[in-house]
Amino acid sequence: MRLAGKVALITGGAHGMGAEEARLFAREGAKVAIADIREEDARKVEAQIAEIGGEAMVVLLDVSQEDQWERSVSAVVERFGKLDILVNNAGISGSGESDHQSTEAWDRLMDINAKSVFLGMKHAIPEMKKTGGGAIVNISSISGFVGQEGIHPGYNASKGAVRLITKSAAVQHAKSGIRVNSVHPGMMPPMLTSFQRGDPNREAMMAGVPMGREGQPIEVANAVLFLASDEASYITGTELIVDGGFTAK
Ligand SMILES: NC(=O)c1ccc[n+]([C@@H]2O[C@H](COP(=O)([O-])OP(=O)(O)OC[C@H]3O[C@@H](n4cnc5c(N)ncnc54)[C@H](O)[C@@H]3O)[C@@H](O)[C@H]2O)c1
Repeated sequence: MRLAGKVALITGGAHGMGAEEARLFAREGAKVAIADIREEDARKVEAQIAEIGGEAMVVLLDVSQEDQWERSVSAVVERFGKLDILVNNAGISGSGESDHQSTEAWDRLMDINAKSVFLGMKHAIPEMKKTGGGAIVNISSISGFVGQEGIHPGYNASKGAVRLITKSAAVQHAKSGIRVNSVHPGMMPPMLTSFQRGDPNREAMMAGVPMGREGQPIEVANAVLFLASDEASYITGTELIVDGGFTAK
């Protein structure tokens, strides 16, 4: 059990990779707060964790809203006593935006994908300091490394911001015992908000994956688990790419 005794808050934990991370963390002994705007799905993940004898709670959180972050972190500490791990995973896709020059979409992408990470760290780090440290894993993307066709540029900008704010926080909080790293998934099962299988832009990107297949959510969750665990005790400010070789070319 690599997270025995730890308390973790996972944003976007109701669906997709965040849900996989929540279940894996619980199997590894963590108490998990599933923080999302999708209550019904979050409750399902909570029930799945209870079925395996784990402990979880649902926190209704829109990650772009600072007052909701304050409330959510307090609720987790009240229920579980502390906060050791934060996974900033919630996000929306730029491929679901119909107008790729929309300023509203830019603001939405930056608020939900990037500002959220700033807010999450701002409110989680003081709690981590109280117990002498913690681990933060921020979910960026291959879109934080390279540009793509057919998506709103705000997605790349937001994921690039996540990549660099991770390094900023890693440097600034290392002496407090807080490690901060980013994970960069590649071609995964489509997001709720992204273009779906069969879309020409997605298929063109798929053709560029050296391993020739989509990643599985558990393959990303395992990377997140490693960085969140004490096995990564000397690793901070790094970028772990999980993309079947997409960005290696
Ligand atoms: N799926 C991919 O191909 C892919 C690739 C690279 C990176 N990513 C990144 O991985 C992360 C997870 O992606 P996924 O594929 O699991 O997506 P998903 O769409 O399956 O799940 C995203 C979750 O985030 C939640 N969410 C959305 N907006 C929110 C908000 N404002 N507040 C709180 N929760 C909110 C959703 O309700 C959902 O539960 C995202 O940050 C995404 O950008 C995904």
